[in-house]
Amino acid sequence: MVSTQPSSFTAAVEAAEKLVQPQNSQSFSDPFSIVSHEMSNLAKSISNLIGSGHPVLNRVSSYYFEAEGKNVRPLIVLLLAKSLSQIPLEQRNRIKIDSLDVTDQKPFSGTPSQTVVAGKSVDDSLSPLSILYGINPKVILDPLSKPMDRLPEFDAMNGILPKQRRLAEIVEMIHTATLLHDDVIDSSDSRRGRPSGNIAFTNKMAILAGDFLLGRASVAIARLRNPEVIELLSTTIANLVEGEFMQLKNTVIDPAAENSIDNDGESKTVPEPSGKVPTKTHEYTVTKPVDFDHETNVNAAFEYYLHKTYLKTASLMSKSSRAAAVLSGAQSDIIDNCYEFGRNLGLCFQIVDDMLDYTSSDSAFGKPSQADLKLGLATAPILFAWKERPEIGDLIARKFSQEGDVELARKQVEECDGLEKTREMAKLYCQKALDNLRVLPESDSRSALEFLTNSVLTRKK
Ligand code: FPP
Ligand code: MG
Repeated sequence: MVSTQPSSFTAAVEAAEKLVQPQNSQSFSDPFSIVSHEMSNLAKSISNLIGSGHPVLNRVSSYYFEAEGKNVRPLIVLLLAKSLSQIPLEQRNRIKIDSLDVTDQKPFSGTPSQTVVAGKSVDDSLSPLSILYGINPKVILDPLSKPMDRLPEFDAMNGILPKQRRLAEIVEMIHTATLLHDDVIDSSDSRRGRPSGNIAFTNKMAILAGDFLLGRASVAIARLRNPEVIELLSTTIANLVEGEFMQLKNTVIDPAAENSIDNDGESKTVPEPSGKVPTKTHEYTVTKPVDFDHETNVNAAFEYYLHKTYLKTASLMSKSSRAAAVLSGAQSDIIDNCYEFGRNLGLCFQIVDDMLDYTSSDSAFGKPSQADLKLGLATAPILFAWKERPEIGDLIARKFSQEGDVELARKQVEECDGLEKTREMAKLYCQKALDNLRVLPESDSRSALEFLTNSVLTRKK
């Protein structure tokens, strides 16, 4: 019988970890400390954006914000914002800092744009409230968030613009919406050490709450009043869905997946398009293997996996990092590197997540561990094993659905050093992300980003 004890895997991971020590040992050990005030107010600020007129909707949409999450996405945005503020203002003239960016303390000595925009702050509406509130505007139904309190003074003092701070909140709202949906899709039972939203409420409520968070995030995005940022963030929402779809229907490993749907173990045929509406598959769809030799198949599977990983995880990190740079007015080289930083860090983050799925226990992870194989998902560790042993292709193709498949796959991963190879892959992206940060001026916030990047690689949960 194959051993499924996590101990041998844990040992393998520990051995792999010894290969990778954080390279930039910093004098501080907590990147949170640099933006601690913003981070500690994050949940409260978000709660101001998500109040609704329905008490149960309020409970389900705030549910995941009540428990301590990693908050890595807003942390990246805030630390980048602070790092970008170290660039001299005369080099940050790509966009003019407008009146919405300037608090009473006027931290920026440059001249704010005189452009007159509707509303006075990122909390004000663009459309008349009578339209946004719909019927019965002032009584019980109160579908829009109330303006927040005046932005705190420390925002002005530490260089993080109000729009960047709002960006951090938006990113966490979008991420939380995806978690509510993801837990329904994965039939998860726990998240952040508590019953997941689908269990604590219902599938229907979890989905609706996710949609509601997206709606509120979209309002907040519009109020940033920056078309480039609106485009970036709206695209991430589409990317997240595309990534999840790629995970649901792996058309590289299983070409028949294009025409069938697995509905809780029952196979259904996908309806044929009527032809009335032209469907367009974009050119960024990955190439399917043309030859069916082993190497081509494995390469196509890795390409598919990385593309899915970008869409599912790295898109939000990269595009929000880019948005933080756009809002700072930095030059295009800086903006491009911020984007690449978020992309490389996001890929590293998800690859490590996929590795931890093999090694963590539920209690350490705060969510179901060792779930991917049971869900039929072929992530990097098993793909590396497949590269060595072509016969693993059968297991992958049948999504580890037969008795003993999951245990067999774990054994193959162990024997082929799949976890160590996965960690090496994550390490490459980690190093690229560190390189991208070098375009930013040296500062505590840049060091904090370097520390954070290294800890993504060495994290245990
Ligand atoms: C977690 O993956 C899931 C994501 C990072 C993205 C999920 C995206 C969707 C459900 C699409 C719907 C999107 C929107 C915009 C609402 P995981 O299952 O690998 O991680 P986990 O172990 O934390 O569950
Ligand atoms: Mg999941």
